[in-house]
Amino acid sequence: MDGNGRWAQARGLPRVAGHRQGAEAVRRAVVACIELGVDYLTIYAFSSENWKRPEREIDDLMGLLGLYLRNEVAELSQRGVRVCFIGDRGRLSTDIRKLIDQAEASTRENKALTLTVALNYGGRQEIVRAARRIAEDAVAGRLGAAAVEEYLFSGYLDTAGVPDPDLVIRTSGEQRLSNFLLWQAAYAELVFLPTLWPDFRKRDLEEAIAEYMKRERRYGASSG
Ligand code: FPP
Repeated sequence: MDGNGRWAQARGLPRVAGHRQGAEAVRRAVVACIELGVDYLTIYAFSSENWKRPEREIDDLMGLLGLYLRNEVAELSQRGVRVCFIGDRGRLSTDIRKLIDQAEASTRENKALTLTVALNYGGRQEIVRAARRIAEDAVAGRLGAAAVEEYLFSGYLDTAGVPDPDLVIRTSGEQRLSNFLLWQAAYAELVFLPTLWPDFRKRDLEEAIAEYMKRERRYGASSG
């Protein structure tokens, strides 16, 4: 969801105005996914590296997230959305952690769309946390080295139970993964759109899906 800052700057507005419109774009994206029959949507709301931003902006982002969770979860639930979170919860405020727990618990049974919010998330950090837990289980005698295979490793990641993404979309013209779903996106199609995230609409999602459908996915096999 890149480009909030540039969207605001282009209008002479503070960055928080871009994030606010970014939250609106999240709302639209959720509805668009349901309408288009997408089963899983994962959004990168706050990266492990975003703590390097000015304290004021971090407070604004956490404030917006808190507001979103307080105001939107009931409606999301009505639409049949299951809300999940990935990332390291350790550094989040107790207030946000409580809202996360409530959102997960109250939407657990929903089936229309699984919305995963990546919060204080970094792909490398997630892989290291998984490796640490595997090592702990091995040291405790619960796991032998030979059992450590891809499927087992996947089960130790925050995304356990969620299928790998078919399509990763980054907005605002930047062409990087920036530590997003590094393990899970191994075979994902990457689509980079020039649209700034606050301008993201259903037609952008349709454009990205159309681009995805043109690609030939080979998973390492030869074509033909
Ligand atoms: C990147 O734009 C965006 C973020 C770091 C935050 C994304 C947050 C939201 C969309 C709002 C809150 C989230 C939810 C789930 C309601 P940037 O600030 O890096 O933009 P720039 O590269 O143009 O400066």
